[in-house]
Amino acid sequence: MAIKKIGIITRDCAGINATIRAVVRSAVHCGVGVLGIKRGFSGLIENDVQPLDRCSVSGIVNHGGTILKTARATEFKRKQGQIKALRTIQKNALDGLIVIGGNGSLAGAHTLADKYSVPVIGIPATIDNDINQVPMTIGADTAVNVALEALDKIRDTATSLERIFLVEVMGRACGYIALRVALAGGCEEVIVPEKQFDIKKICKEITKGYGQGKITWIIVVAEGKARAADLSKIISKITKLETREVVLGHIQRGGAPTAFDRILAARYGQFAVNALLNKKTDKCVTLKNDNLALIPLKTAIEKKDIEVSSYYKLIKLLT
Ligand code: F6P
Repeated sequence: MAIKKIGIITRDCAGINATIRAVVRSAVHCGVGVLGIKRGFSGLIENDVQPLDRCSVSGIVNHGGTILKTARATEFKRKQGQIKALRTIQKNALDGLIVIGGNGSLAGAHTLADKYSVPVIGIPATIDNDINQVPMTIGADTAVNVALEALDKIRDTATSLERIFLVEVMGRACGYIALRVALAGGCEEVIVPEKQFDIKKICKEITKGYGQGKITWIIVVAEGKARAADLSKIISKITKLETREVVLGHIQRGGAPTAFDRILAARYGQFAVNALLNKKTDKCVTLKNDNLALIPLKTAIEKKDIEVSSYYKLIKLLT
């Protein structure tokens, strides 16, 4: 049976709107209708939907967030919620779904495909860049650039006042954002979930540096490993130097997507529609040597190992 109508579900991060646009316009180009599911999997459970056409995705390519809105849908984790979601799919005559989001969204997509035989393609979009076998998720590049811009501003004060700053970045259990921001921002130290750290050793380095005239330190802390506020207290107690902490938080998830993320959104979006129309299901879009490819959703939601040691060594070498 040919695919005539598909649904889109999203989480939020920079580049999601550009992805919605790419999916809608690619589908319309192939004569396929599109229904936007509002508020993520909650909208699928509650039949909260909105038809999308070429015009409804005009002027959104540069906007952060998601025009479809999103929410955490704990009900979808239970069978009852999944059955309600299935009813919405049937009621709206959806022949397939495209799910755009991070680990939780892709896990939901896998449940629908695996347990209920719904044709589903996932598009990886999260600032965390923690999707297994996906080199780049939509939103991660923007998050790094937003965090870097903030860090550059913090450096102005750190240098002027000769202070130690601890800058906490997001990323769930993945140190991707922290490592990139620390290297690009010329930081002295980075603390990530993938690597053990020794706070006493860091304090020794700071004290030694201080003795040699180095008085500004910026330490990037990944939220998945430690709290900047806790480390700030310990460092100031041990070194007797003035410290400050900054939590960058949700600013990293918003804002206009970078060109990199918009291009990724266009490529992933069109490829996902093509895959669905070609009867592929339970798959996640990825890149292999910059070529678009598909991997099983089951693989995509497994834990991702990222390269840490070469980045860490370079950060320390350039300090
Ligand atoms: O997964 C994206 C992310 O921004 C993580 O980096 C962060 O830990 C989490 O979401 C924050 O979630 P919430 O917006 O629900 O507080």
